[in-house]
Amino acid sequence: MRSLIDKLSKENYLTQNELEYLLDKMTEEDRDYLIEKAYDVRKKYYGDTVFFRGLIEISNICKCDCFYCGIRKSNKKADRYRLSKEEILDSCHRGYFLGYRTFVFQGGEDSYFTDNILEEIIRELKNQYNDIAITLSLGERGAESFKRLYDAGADRYLLRHETVDEELYNKLHPGMSLENRKKCLESLKSIGYQVGSGFLIGLPGLKLTDYAKDLVYLKKLRPHMVGIGPFIPHEDTPLKAEKGGTAYDTITLLAIIRLLLPDVLLPATTALGTIDPKGREKGFKAGANVIMPNLSPMECRKKYALYNGKVFLGKESAEEKIKIENSVLEAGFQPILTKGDNVRWKRK
Ligand code: 5AD
Repeated sequence: MRSLIDKLSKENYLTQNELEYLLDKMTEEDRDYLIEKAYDVRKKYYGDTVFFRGLIEISNICKCDCFYCGIRKSNKKADRYRLSKEEILDSCHRGYFLGYRTFVFQGGEDSYFTDNILEEIIRELKNQYNDIAITLSLGERGAESFKRLYDAGADRYLLRHETVDEELYNKLHPGMSLENRKKCLESLKSIGYQVGSGFLIGLPGLKLTDYAKDLVYLKKLRPHMVGIGPFIPHEDTPLKAEKGGTAYDTITLLAIIRLLLPDVLLPATTALGTIDPKGREKGFKAGANVIMPNLSPMECRKKYALYNGKVFLGKESAEEKIKIENSVLEAGFQPILTKGDNVRWKRK
């Protein structure tokens, strides 16, 4: 097993069979060794830094009906909101003042956010600040839309593939297709975005070895960023009675991803921090190097509930930032607020 882990860290590649074998047969000692290797690679590429990204949850209105997600269309109990252009810009200004240089606009698939409106917001921010990156995480759109937003100044796009198991994908995402998801990711890449994908850990019916397929897909896609996190059941969804993913499995997969894609920007996600209070710190030690503190207006943070129990670390953004910075420092890492593009990337 050690030689397989050595091979993975030397060649940044394993076949699907080898990945399955690793996930299936790894003992706890092997896993410690894997995490050590992932930590070495993280150190080589990024030292002890952790990049901060300011997350703004712009809308919880969504036309999709994903079975696991708390803001799915059919959840009549969700208290819906949408931020205005002014509220979004205001959150960014406050974030800039706090030192953030990346702003992530995340939201449900809300048709209010047309290309025109998003272009205006992106242009205005990019005119005002020349040292920021804008990341979008707004679901599936057409290639033309992706291109317009890129030309307006958006730099990065996050779109998890969620699961590469087609049968499960179809079950969990009514009216959607894995094929279109992949097409979106390809077009984002060819337009020139820094692209992030990733998957959920612990979706009903999946075994640890099943993630070998997701890992192979990610290796082929070669994204600049990868977001993975445990599935956490939400009480007002069809999956409310299912078991969620574990921090243990999430951390194992973070380490493997660091070794497969050594220069990838890899967040320790809020979901991981939600199921384990030390989850994100453990994530950094296994290769994660990004954290996304919340910059959304306080009133809407509770409403942006994709899952139950989401952690809140402060009464407002400034306090949350200080708390997260302290926890990063305590874990032995250096918070960094610069733009932090992937080293492989240049704007086309
Ligand atoms: N548990 C964990 N993560 C979730 N997401 C959506 N619902 C849940 C849940 N119940 C994730 C999806 C999506 C990202 C923004 O949030 O993977 O891509």
